[in-house]
Amino acid sequence: MNIKQAILWASDELDLVCERPSFEAQLLLCHHLKCNRVFLVANEEKIVEDAEAFKDIVARRKNSEPYEYITNNVSFYDIELFVEHGVLIPRPETELLIDEVSNIIKQEKITTIAEIGVGSGAISIVIARKFPNIKIIATDISPDALNVAKKNIEYFGLGDRIKLVHTNLLDGIKDNIDMIVSNPPYIANDFVLEKNVIKYEPKEALFGGVVGDEILKEIIDLAKTKEVKFLACEMGYDQKQLIAKYLNQINVNSVKFYTDLAKLDRGFIIKF
Ligand SMILES: C[S@@+](CC[C@H](N)C(=O)[O-])C[C@H]1O[C@@H](n2cnc3c(N)ncnc32)[C@H](O)[C@@H]1O
Repeated sequence: MNIKQAILWASDELDLVCERPSFEAQLLLCHHLKCNRVFLVANEEKIVEDAEAFKDIVARRKNSEPYEYITNNVSFYDIELFVEHGVLIPRPETELLIDEVSNIIKQEKITTIAEIGVGSGAISIVIARKFPNIKIIATDISPDALNVAKKNIEYFGLGDRIKLVHTNLLDGIKDNIDMIVSNPPYIANDFVLEKNVIKYEPKEALFGGVVGDEILKEIIDLAKTKEVKFLACEMGYDQKQLIAKYLNQINVNSVKFYTDLAKLDRGFIIKF
C-alpha cells in the first residue's frame, strides 16, 4: 500500500465516523509516518512502512476513539499538551476561561491561584506561562489526571510554580489563595453524550451530579468560606439561571457571566 492508496483506504474507512474523513486520514498517516502533510503530497507513490500499525490506528478512530488519544497530543491555547486515556481532552471553549482569568490577574493584585480539577494541566500551565509571577496550587481527585498534569508541567519547566495535590476540591490546602479557577465536571448524570466522549473520556471529569451543577455549587461555597477574592468557573450552557439563583442566596460583591464563541452561556466570574 502506497501513501495515496493508504489515504484513500483510510478516508473510506472513516467516512461514517468523521466530519472530514480525508483530512483525518491524512493526519493519522502523518502521525504514523512522523511527517507533515506536505510530505504526503510529495511522496504519493512511497510505500507505507508497517501498514498494519496504520490500519490499527484507523480502526481505533473508526471505533470513535478521539484523535487526541490516538496521537497522545492536543493543541490548546498557544501550546501542545500530552494526553492519554484517563484524562479529559481540553476543549477550545476552556480557552475563554483563561482569557477571563487573565483579565482579572492583570487588573487585580493576584499572586496565588488554586485550580480545582487540573486534568491535563491545560489551564494552570497556560496561566503560569502568561504570568511569570503567579503561583498555582492545582488539585485533582484522579491519580491518572495528576500523572498527565505532572508530565506536562515538567515538560514546560513549571514544577516550581504549579504544585499538584491529590485531593477532593481543596481539602487540606491551607495556603492563602487570591483566586480559585475551575472547569469542574458539570454535566447531569443522565445527559446522553456522544459516543466518542462517553466511551473514552473519564466519567469523573464529566458528570457533576443529578442536576449537573452540584460540584459548581460546592466550589462556590468553598470559595466563600475560604474568603478568596475571585472565583472563575466554566459551566454548562444551560446553567446560568441555576447559578444566578444560587448566588442570590449568598452575599457576593458581583457576578459576570460570559458566553462562548457560539454565544452560549459558558462560565462566570464571581467577585466576593
Ligand atoms: C472537566 S475536567 C477539567 C480538566 C482540565 N482543567 C481542563 O479544563 O481540561 C474536570 C477535572 O476535575 C476533576 N475532579 C472531579 N471531581 C473533583 C473533585 N471533587 N476534586 C478535585 N478534582 C475533581 C476530574 O478528575 C477532572 O480532571
